[in-house]
Amino acid sequence: MYPIHSKIQAKVSSNGTAKSPFYALLGEFEQALSGVLNRETQPAVKRHKEKGKLTARERIKLLIDTNTSFLELSALAAYNQKDNAFPSAGVVTGIGVIHGREAVIVANDATVKGGTYIKETVKKHLRAQEIAMENNLPCVYLVDSGGAFLPEQDSVFPDRDHFGRIFYNQARLSAMGIPQISIVMGSCTAGGAYIPAMSDETIIVRNQGTIFIGGPPLVKAATGEEVTAEELGGGEVHTSISGVADHLAESDAHALEICRNIFESLPKPQRQKLDIAQPEAPAYTEDELYSLIPVDLKRQTDVHEIIARLVDGSRFHEFKESYGTTLVTGFARIMGFPVGIIANNGFFTSESSLKGAHFIELCSHRKVPIVFLQNTTGFIVGKKYEHGGIARDGAKLINAVANASVPIFTVVIGASYGAGNYAMAGRAFNPRLLLMWPNAKIAVMGGEQASNVLVSIKEQQLKANGKELTPDERQRIKQEILSKYEVESSAYYSTSRIWDDGIIDPLDTRKYLALGISASLNRPFGEPNFGVFRM
Ligand code: COA
Repeated sequence: MYPIHSKIQAKVSSNGTAKSPFYALLGEFEQALSGVLNRETQPAVKRHKEKGKLTARERIKLLIDTNTSFLELSALAAYNQKDNAFPSAGVVTGIGVIHGREAVIVANDATVKGGTYIKETVKKHLRAQEIAMENNLPCVYLVDSGGAFLPEQDSVFPDRDHFGRIFYNQARLSAMGIPQISIVMGSCTAGGAYIPAMSDETIIVRNQGTIFIGGPPLVKAATGEEVTAEELGGGEVHTSISGVADHLAESDAHALEICRNIFESLPKPQRQKLDIAQPEAPAYTEDELYSLIPVDLKRQTDVHEIIARLVDGSRFHEFKESYGTTLVTGFARIMGFPVGIIANNGFFTSESSLKGAHFIELCSHRKVPIVFLQNTTGFIVGKKYEHGGIARDGAKLINAVANASVPIFTVVIGASYGAGNYAMAGRAFNPRLLLMWPNAKIAVMGGEQASNVLVSIKEQQLKANGKELTPDERQRIKQEILSKYEVESSAYYSTSRIWDDGIIDPLDTRKYLALGISASLNRPFGEPNFGVFRM
């Protein structure tokens, strides 16, 4: 494998600090993240701690192995919605290592409206379970929740992918032999009671955790019976009378220790074999990335320059280097893991689509995970290209992406527009992780193009009636669409709605991909099996 020789290394390193417009975006991202991570001074957090309870993230830190990283997902879920009253959508999810075993962790944040579930909370919880299912990872639920956020029951209760799906998934995961473990560290009421009740093994904290179908006020109203929460469904009751829980813990820390002990005796999964090398830093200083990142998406950045700063030793064995050059494909390593990289270097052509499909076949046959680096405005348009069958060749690529038998990972490093999003393993194509850089944009097309399309449709409608748009009207329609697209295509809008697994600092890309690839090895890869390619 040969190293990539950067053509702009001298320019970047000559000014030492490598300032770029990306720094402003990075500052905005760090501020948003700090707003959800650093909430110690908020009254709800203070009250929570006064009760002797740990916060959700403190609990996770104690649960996972020391000196290991927690791969937190969608930390900015629900961001800029509902007056930011639901930081991280009130639940912390991610992948952590417990006694050497990768596991999905779902921890309710009781300091956010009592840990209750709005639409985004449910979506985040279900996404975590989906990750557990795809990668064969045990699930640990750190339960401290008032259940459904009652004012918004219509968006959390009745539909297929609402609250009930959590329990359905628990049953299915358990049946697949994927351990389901709950620690009841606070309230667990009504529907929520089924999270521990549906688990394979459940721990409850004395004088703190409660499980009941109806709480004391409901019991009083329904039957007139007066009972305290502890008498109704506390730790003592459930571990010695009802049998709903299996282990009684004296504190949060004790409960987490019991959970770690459970992991110690879990059978080890059969891992996919992969030729893993010693991790190596890229040959170029990684923070040069900040200078290269496509902030102005109208300017194409040579993606070789970005690959050079993401892969081990900056070494890249490029495949079909001179053919279909708007897509760059090749083999490399990230933190020692072998990967096939598929990266946009402009819009899709027939040639680049065919090259991408061919490369996915190679990776599937060789059992090499694939990393997609998305920065595309989509497929090239025009009579010449339609006549050349670009739709047919694009379909081949999309077919190959959908049927790739190895784990795929997607990082949106710039634009993700139109069918380019599909061809590059967007959310609908089940990448094991979908990560966004803070500059990323995702939409059916760019705002400029969408506004031009809509203006031209309006003009045709009016023309049929012998009328036309005034320049002011044309400008107003354009501006409305442009502003709407500006907001809706931002990485923050996407991550708030959990269309992705989180915005990350580009310098963390290697770490996130490595953790994701490592987690994917818990389930052996499938055999290549593609559908009919239209020739
Ligand atoms: N729906 C909507 N809001 C809820 C809620 C629910 N199910 N449960 C709690 N909240 C809100 C409270 O109104 C309060 O909001 P505020 O901060 O704007 O005042 C906040 O969450 C914290 O609740 P509070 O009762 O002050 O906190 P706590 O730590 O003393 O108790 C609970 C937390 C969850 C134990 C308690 O609120 C409770 O029992 N809630 C009802 C649970 C229930 O019956 N759920 C059934 C739904 S399936």
